[in-house]
Amino acid sequence: MFLKTCLLLLLCGVIALSAHDYEGYKIYDIKADNSFKKELLLHIAKNTEYDFFNMPRALDAATRVMVQPKDQAGFQLLLNGFALEYTVVEDNLGSTLQKEQLENQSQRLVAQRNAVRSISFTAFHRHAEINAYLDELAKAYPSRVTVQTAGKSYENRDLKTITISNGDGKSGKNVIFLDAGIHAREWIAPAGALYVIYQLVENFVSNADLLKDYDWVILPVVNPDGYEYTHTNSRMWRKTRKPASSSCYGTDANRNFDFHWGEVGASSYSCADTFKGTTAFSEPETKIVRDLLLGLLGRGKFYLTLHSYGNYLLYPWGWTSDLPSDWRAHDEVAQAGAAAIMKSTGTEYTVGSSTNVLYAAAGGSDDYAFGVAGFPVSITMELPAGGTGFDPTIAEILPYVSETWTGIRAMAQKVIEKY
Ligand code: ARG
Ligand code: ZN
Repeated sequence: MFLKTCLLLLLCGVIALSAHDYEGYKIYDIKADNSFKKELLLHIAKNTEYDFFNMPRALDAATRVMVQPKDQAGFQLLLNGFALEYTVVEDNLGSTLQKEQLENQSQRLVAQRNAVRSISFTAFHRHAEINAYLDELAKAYPSRVTVQTAGKSYENRDLKTITISNGDGKSGKNVIFLDAGIHAREWIAPAGALYVIYQLVENFVSNADLLKDYDWVILPVVNPDGYEYTHTNSRMWRKTRKPASSSCYGTDANRNFDFHWGEVGASSYSCADTFKGTTAFSEPETKIVRDLLLGLLGRGKFYLTLHSYGNYLLYPWGWTSDLPSDWRAHDEVAQAGAAAIMKSTGTEYTVGSSTNVLYAAAGGSDDYAFGVAGFPVSITMELPAGGTGFDPTIAEILPYVSETWTGIRAMAQKVIEKY
């Protein structure tokens, strides 16, 4: 009895300690309007205690940084010392996230109460609900949908893919492969993938042109352990959840692919948010994506991976500022997506190679799909920011994912026309 109570208390203690409430965390927007200030910011960003939501770039607006209470005084001194102008855009992230969580929680339940499906676009859903939705579709549309378990995450969650066809029974068609949720906190990305699934499966008639000569394979949550962790413990978690060293958890899955692995823009420090992993493909989740991509060799024509945030359509390379010889094909597809979005909502996307418009970072899934798995078009789509960046409100979900779909539809049409 005594032992039992102790164990329980211990467990409660651990759970309470590991839940991260972001109480007093602040988010700053920093202006760096010349190259010296940008260099300074890049230098400051090396301190892994600061969470840079984005990096200073050419011609660009503010750089957003999340800072924990213990570091705020020093951080502000540093900014003032270097005459870096800043504004506090979030004074207490903890209370904002708490409100958002309550809202999401109640909407999740409302959405499910009378619904046929386990998911909606009025709330962010848990991994189990997402997987349940895929199974529901397989059951409801057996001639057009197959769901497979591609493998298991480190914490034993099923990584399920949904393969969508038009049911004409022809095999060996070209394939569009879409994934999302490589980065745990980018919740709008899996929601975007779910909306694509919803359109292709449940709104099939309007989208039949996209399935005539192509099948779609979609993995809506690449990193379910991280995704669940952002729901249960730490909303701003980015990495996987396998222990990376004796002191820190997780690898940046988008630095873990074996193509110029670790050469640039990836950290060797296991506690860093961009940790490249102990080896290339150290993570079960990236191995699964690798095997799915290699399994489509010759058929895979378009690899699209959804992230947030920043409104970018990025193509290779991410490891060098050189462009691939056929960058024009990528550019044409990405521009078609950007133009369709601009036309429908006026939202602006920046198009270009990852390194040139964002920053160099090797080991990304996009470079691997293009450089190794033979996908002629490979694009990373960074959806818009919502809330403080990674936390769109539930009201933003539907407008964002439908706008995203408009862009994806246009890109898919262009790919289908070209290949
Ligand atoms: N925001 C993404 C990341 O940092 C961009 C990835 C672009 N692709 C690349 N291979 N660097 O992971
Ligand atoms: Zn990302």
